[in-house]
Amino acid sequence: MSADGTILVTGGSRGIGAATATLLADQGHHVVIVDIAPEPLVGTNAILWPAPFDVASEAAVVAGIADIEQAHGPITGLVNAAGVFGKMHTIDRVRMEQWDREVNIDLRGTFLVARSVGIGMAKRRHGAIVNVASVAGMTSGPIHAYTAAKAGVIQITQTLAAEWGRTGVRVNAVSPGFTRTAALEAGIASGALNKDLLASPTAMNRLVEPMEVAQAIAWLLSPRSSGVTGINLPVDAGYIAGTTWAAYGGLPEAPRS
Ligand SMILES: NC(=O)c1ccc[n+]([C@@H]2O[C@H](COP(=O)([O-])OP(=O)(O)OC[C@H]3O[C@@H](n4cnc5c(N)ncnc54)[C@H](O)[C@@H]3O)[C@@H](O)[C@H]2O)c1
Repeated sequence: MSADGTILVTGGSRGIGAATATLLADQGHHVVIVDIAPEPLVGTNAILWPAPFDVASEAAVVAGIADIEQAHGPITGLVNAAGVFGKMHTIDRVRMEQWDREVNIDLRGTFLVARSVGIGMAKRRHGAIVNVASVAGMTSGPIHAYTAAKAGVIQITQTLAAEWGRTGVRVNAVSPGFTRTAALEAGIASGALNKDLLASPTAMNRLVEPMEVAQAIAWLLSPRSSGVTGINLPVDAGYIAGTTWAAYGGLPEAPRS
């Protein structure tokens, strides 16, 4: 175990969680990843917790965190990256089973893991948590449960930051814009998503790379952000900044160099 303890990354087998676990392990941290569909990360020292870990199950989370701390020592950093995307529907076609699935994994799961890990951090007066929210939680879209769940993640981040602030434990969120994970690429390949429509409203006219989100998470976990708690940091290539420009005729092109 490294001197600064164990960093746990949920949803660490794929996408943003995998990029974050890889970066943190490359930085020399002792990283453990959990996932509902656990797969090792090739080419990194991040350690796979081999049993499937469902963030939405209270019993599984409580037992799983106890087992992980027994095996790897106290968790001093937590990245809540496990999540599922919202299914796009008109309001009359929103199925409540789908609503429950998205809210249970994205919001309830984030809270359950943060609570199970954070209470121990608060007792030890040491630790940092980063929740992966989304720009979808700051805007509207035809993904009713997902936007509500992610807004809830941003809110619960503030509540936990206030709850544990006096102990020195910090809790922050990042809100990725459309990020080029395998899951998003599959959506583009299937035709369900259009790359140009995802990129063009952003100030930078592009998608976000998983490693760019990982870099922001690593900063929020590190002592370099020691004065920061309760924030929600968009990592969105300027999606929030650029999206309203459509009302004024669109974003300007870069001048020819
Ligand atoms: N990719 C994007 O464009 C984007 C944008 C904004 C926010 N996000 C958020 O980032 C997070 C990671 O998304 P991603 O794009 O890397 O997706 P991904 O599908 O590549 O990775 C998500 C991981 O979470 C795991 N997972 C799913 N349900 C789980 C559960 N119940 N318990 C434990 N693990 C579970 C999956 O197996 C997978 O490995 C999610 O919260 C997502 O909402 C993604």
